[in-house]
Amino acid sequence: MSGTVKRDPPAGAGALPSGLHRHSLDARRADLRDAFALGDEEWEGISASPALRELADVMVESAVGCMPVPLGIAEGFLIDGRETAVPMAVEEPSVIAAASFAARLVRRDGGFATWAADPVMAAQVFLEGVSEQGERRLAACGDTVRAALAGELASLERRGGGYRGLSVSRLAGMGTVKVEIAIDVRDAMGANRLNTAAERLRLLLEKESGGRVLMAILSNEARERLAGARFRLPVDRLAVRLPAGMDGAEAARRVAAASQVAQEDPSRAVTHNKGIMNGISSLALATMNDTRAVEAAAHAWAARSGRYRGLSLFSVDQGMLCGELELPLAMATVGGSVDFHPASRAALAVLGWPDSPRLSRIAAALGLAQNLAALLALTTRGIQAGHMRYHAARLAYRAGARGSEVRLLAEELHGAEGAASADLASARTLLARMRGEAP
Ligand code: MEV
Repeated sequence: MSGTVKRDPPAGAGALPSGLHRHSLDARRADLRDAFALGDEEWEGISASPALRELADVMVESAVGCMPVPLGIAEGFLIDGRETAVPMAVEEPSVIAAASFAARLVRRDGGFATWAADPVMAAQVFLEGVSEQGERRLAACGDTVRAALAGELASLERRGGGYRGLSVSRLAGMGTVKVEIAIDVRDAMGANRLNTAAERLRLLLEKESGGRVLMAILSNEARERLAGARFRLPVDRLAVRLPAGMDGAEAARRVAAASQVAQEDPSRAVTHNKGIMNGISSLALATMNDTRAVEAAAHAWAARSGRYRGLSLFSVDQGMLCGELELPLAMATVGGSVDFHPASRAALAVLGWPDSPRLSRIAAALGLAQNLAALLALTTRGIQAGHMRYHAARLAYRAGARGSEVRLLAEELHGAEGAASADLASARTLLARMRGEAP
């Protein structure tokens, strides 16, 4: 292998010229490579193709390359009766395998049933210095606001979306007044549209209220844009690779108990929900949706009762394991980077060019599948045994195996007694033996 970034940096390394964003992409990249003495592999790792580099330069400031997160396909999903291949961009080894495993478990009994609300998002305008009378005037100015936004929202209205109403409230502590404008953004995430609408309303709302605008911005809470998924399957279906003496009924009881733990214990709920987001964020990234917005909304929803809880619930009912997940999912299929970048267009093609509600429903089913796989593994055989297979593959690669050698060496390492403790030295020795080289 060529150099790694772990070597000692040369004296003076790590300093980039200031004003990087004013330099050309090529100059920036050359500076970066020199300043941090990047090795060939690391350099190739961030270089992608010239076309993708050019695109990166259009998409973000001070671009230096692309981050090639692995893209895989979770298979086996039956969602509302439709076969669905789910593209996932993720660096964690077991995530896609876990999703496919759960999807195959659930599909034999009808798969996932899903739902999604209309894609309504809120723009927020915060105003200071508003009297009670001003607050009342704001609450009555829905028609004026609708008229002021008519041009901005005309294309949305033609597609069945547009203005959905206005609400006014006062923050109890500061006394600042919040005006929320609800807009159905159809297939977009809505950030641009909502931010433009909110800013356009500044003067009007100041005039109506007699106050001053503090800020105007969309809310990522997306609490109206809920999507969910559920499934039911006979507990006997869970009798796959269970520890000796455990049957499907006990496995189902344990999965349900684990979901109850996440209702009661906030610190477990964090990990529980992280498992759900393993699926949802991977799909969001594959489609170049705003992963931070999707995650922020999910965690806010998990804490909506004032206590942070698991997002999903499992129960056992008359010999069936039932699972359900519902959360806000502002998953777009147009706008932003979603239909701009060829990689996300490829993901949308794999998904059959869904609209926003369908993509959100797929995300909910994926999150629930991911959660089922995690809880089943955790409460039965544990997750580490399954992870060792991926550990072995990475170890084989680090030892220098390439092509078909990776799988062969990984199998040897995985099969070997104590695969968990196999180290790089033993992997190299095994590789040399496989190649018939002298040790
Ligand atoms: C690992 O990425 C996700 C899990 O920790 C989720 C969970 O504990 O439910 C396995």
